[in-house]
Amino acid sequence: MGSKIPFYKICIVGDFGVGKTTLLHQYLERRFNPNVSSTIGSNFFAKIIKIPNVKTPFTLQIWDLAGQEHFKWVRHEFYKGAKGIVYVFDLTRKQTFDSIIAWKKEIEKAIKSFSSILVGNKFDLITRNERIIGEEAQTLKKQLKACAYHETSAKIGTGVEEFFSKLVAHIYKSSK
Ligand code: GTP
Repeated sequence: MGSKIPFYKICIVGDFGVGKTTLLHQYLERRFNPNVSSTIGSNFFAKIIKIPNVKTPFTLQIWDLAGQEHFKWVRHEFYKGAKGIVYVFDLTRKQTFDSIIAWKKEIEKAIKSFSSILVGNKFDLITRNERIIGEEAQTLKKQLKACAYHETSAKIGTGVEEFFSKLVAHIYKSSK
């Protein structure tokens, strides 16, 4: 009998249209899928990964939860057992950044102890002059007690692999 591969449940959350499903397609298939449709309820993905300096691989079970308000009632159950939360906002829409705290509150009603990471997506759409979210992302990261803040482009692939590795390494360290 082989030894069991450790398994972590991760939920990816954030407002409607911030790019959660597209980030996952980029992470799992290493390509931009321009044809994803808005998530109805939830999607579920699995991936086996390795992180630097750790021998054993991990199985990630990743839940992609619909960001629309009317799916709020189904989300509570999906948070249960999650070891990691990815908070995603859209770098071009300030209101998606402002609502991250409401996501934190929603999650904390379901689970108490988890690692998290803050992700600002659609980096390819902003230029330095157009930046609407700067230093306050670091402040929000601290408020969330997130292990890091990353900027990503699910279209180009920038930063996607990195933030998942960082989150998994943090979960691993916290569980030792
Ligand atoms: P819900 O499932 O409805 O909660 O939305 P979501 O957060 O999963 O967003 P989704 O992945 O469906 O992406 C919404 C739109 O943004 C789609 O048209 C994507 O192609 C686009 N998009 C996502 N990420 C990026 C990105 O990094 N750059 C650009 N330019 N477009 C992106």
